[in-house]
Amino acid sequence: MAGGGSARGHWLQWAVRLVLIAWAVRAQDTNLTCSDFQTSGIFQDNQLQVQFLLFTFQNRNCGQVIDWGNAESIGDSPFNSTRDTKILIHGFRALGTKPSWIDDMVDALLGATDANVVAVDWVSGSTAKYNQAVENIPRLSGEVAELIKHLLELGVTEESLHLIGISLGAHAAGLVGQMFGGRIGHITGLDPAGYKFKKAPPEERLDPGDAMFVEAIHTDTDSFGISIPVGHVDYFINGGRDQPGCPSVRHLYGFVICDHMRSVSMYISAVRGICSFTGFPCPTYKEFLGGQCVSCAGSSHASCPRIAREDILANPRTQIISQEAQVFLMTTAKEPFCAHHMLLVFSLPEPRDSTLTIEIELKSETSSSKTKISIAGGHLEGRAVLAHSAPLCEIQMAVLRYPGSILSFWRGKTEIRGTFCVSEMPLGDRAERRCLPQTVMLSGNSRHSYNLQTAGRPGGHSDPWEEN
Ligand SMILES: *[C@@H]1O[C@H](CO)[C@@H](O)[C@H](O)[C@H]1NC(C)=O
Ligand SMILES: *[C@@H]1O[C@H](CO)[C@@H](O)[C@H](O)[C@H]1NC(C)=O
Repeated sequence: MAGGGSARGHWLQWAVRLVLIAWAVRAQDTNLTCSDFQTSGIFQDNQLQVQFLLFTFQNRNCGQVIDWGNAESIGDSPFNSTRDTKILIHGFRALGTKPSWIDDMVDALLGATDANVVAVDWVSGSTAKYNQAVENIPRLSGEVAELIKHLLELGVTEESLHLIGISLGAHAAGLVGQMFGGRIGHITGLDPAGYKFKKAPPEERLDPGDAMFVEAIHTDTDSFGISIPVGHVDYFINGGRDQPGCPSVRHLYGFVICDHMRSVSMYISAVRGICSFTGFPCPTYKEFLGGQCVSCAGSSHASCPRIAREDILANPRTQIISQEAQVFLMTTAKEPFCAHHMLLVFSLPEPRDSTLTIEIELKSETSSSKTKISIAGGHLEGRAVLAHSAPLCEIQMAVLRYPGSILSFWRGKTEIRGTFCVSEMPLGDRAERRCLPQTVMLSGNSRHSYNLQTAGRPGGHSDPWEEN
């Protein structure tokens, strides 16, 4: 922090300290002892040891150990059986450290709802050897199930339980759900682990039978994550393989884990209510990018599921899932990763004999995004889907370029004419849509900029538009 920011920084630090002191005093009032995650060493004896840390409104920053073997530990805690219960299960811990996202996730959940948030700490048992961690999953699940049995005896209902499992933790959540015959309300798998699970039968991994509603967010299916659908709804983010903003260097752990952890960061963005992430049902990501799956009201798909604060907190879930859906969506490269999807359509007055490509960039005040539209030979129209951090009403410019091809230069066809429209997805009666009011002519490999703010809505009056 530099210059004028530091005075404010100090002030903020003091404010934070005061709040912490207030919490500590409060915690003392009710005789809470704050506990944190265990840590383990790579070379230490790595026996499974499970610890449950409870966080509520009353002890947001002060984890309290609850133990199903010791009824008083729950009875004396701020656990409230009439409220929803969220159980967080982490995954493999290569270095034996506390998961860095736990505090953020607890804070986000308690910022959104007054629930019982239980963080399952199995750092000891998840460290050093991946295979050993995998072998510990059934016992870990057994311990979580014991805790839940105890909570049910206290009057907690099965549908008020929501398990959120990351990587290996997602499969542990699945096994727990299976032990309760799929009657648990909700399981969220954040990039469920792939290695050792992709070929496993459903009873050994997360699957739709494990809860009333099972969803999975896939962000690293070509490395740590599982590539097959495992829930009622499976979100494949940016296709599920590689995430924008993550380095493609594959040999450093911190870099490699970036795609995998994106599922967690996105989920936290949604819990905090910064934005919601709508998934579009589609057979493949390629078809999604090609603008083949743009609406949420088609006959084959009743609606588009979304990762949204209201749905994360709704228990039991209001969204009824009639069939299992594989859905796609894009994000931006930067936190909070929220994006608006735009359908871009370029139409020719008459078909050409070979495929042509047009480069398109959309610019708002704060960001720009680019893609290409291909129009196949013999076709009149090309489509593409683009993600942008701003909604269509804030997009100022569309920049179009037709790079041509050797063949087109040879034939002397270095320009194309056509019409161009951008629509915000999902398409529907109320969807925002902008079309350039006249036929555009792209020529000579140069960039043509059009003002989308003044471009008319189709059917409405056409404002003049400028080209520079
Ligand atoms: C906290 O613990 C102390 C000593 O163990 C006890 O005297 C006191 O009554 C307790 N306070 C509450 C609010 O339970
Ligand atoms: C438990 O939660 C319910 C519902 O929010 C609330 O009415 C009740 O007062 C809470 N009980 C305690 C002991 O805090």
